[in-house]
Amino acid sequence: QEKRMLAGKRVLVTAGGTIERIDPVRYLTNDSSGKMGFAIAEEASRMGAEVTLVTGKTSVPLPPGVKAVRTESALDMMEAVLSRLQDNDIVIKAAAVADYRPAEQAQQKIKKKKSELTLQLVKNPDILKAVGERKTTQFVVGFAAETERVAEHAMDKLKRKNSDLLVANDVSAEGAGFGTDTNIVSFFDQNGLVEALPVLPKAEVARRLLTLIASRMEGGKTA
Ligand code: PMT
Repeated sequence: QEKRMLAGKRVLVTAGGTIERIDPVRYLTNDSSGKMGFAIAEEASRMGAEVTLVTGKTSVPLPPGVKAVRTESALDMMEAVLSRLQDNDIVIKAAAVADYRPAEQAQQKIKKKKSELTLQLVKNPDILKAVGERKTTQFVVGFAAETERVAEHAMDKLKRKNSDLLVANDVSAEGAGFGTDTNIVSFFDQNGLVEALPVLPKAEVARRLLTLIASRMEGGKTA
């Protein structure tokens, strides 16, 4: 019966990296492939959920059985997520959202200068934080990509962004993080560490995460 554990639930998943344009042919992005978010979306659909997958730039085929919404920048992704927030029961933010974007987007390709070129960056809004501020009954799950002091940073993000669960990955560890088919994650809730998992395929990480979410929601969590 585990298979249909999310029957009747609407799940929004974000995946991939955002693209922050410099000019019509150049942009800033990161190494996210979309694999982690796609695995969650596919597994949630298999468990019976109605899944909306909001993607940034990804490098693997879309999973079957989900409604995909393509976005580019953090600002686009924020609009796509917030406009759908109240239609969903669970929000899982596996996307790697750029913290900064170029202050200006040149309308024409920037010409080569004689010497250096300075790019000024401005801060992007935090989508997960905005979701945490607006959530009503949604169960909200954030990710944390860390390279040091993982637990401390994870707990800080969980509290600051008002999430129900946080999935921390040490992206500097072999077999974890960006681009790989496996991940090494720990789950945190408002009380601290829930579980630290060994290296596992991203599909299995997704299955364990969704099983935990389903059991927490069954336990009467409504806000
Ligand atoms: O896509 P893969 O190649 O499979 O790689 C998976 C992954 C490493 C990208 C994934 O497991 C992961 O860790 N995703 C979150 C990456 C990230 O942006 O982490 P962060 O610690 O910078 O952000 C924390 C949380 O806030 C994340 O849920 C992020 O989506 C969210 N955030 C961050 C910045 C921002 N402006 N808005 C956000 O919503």
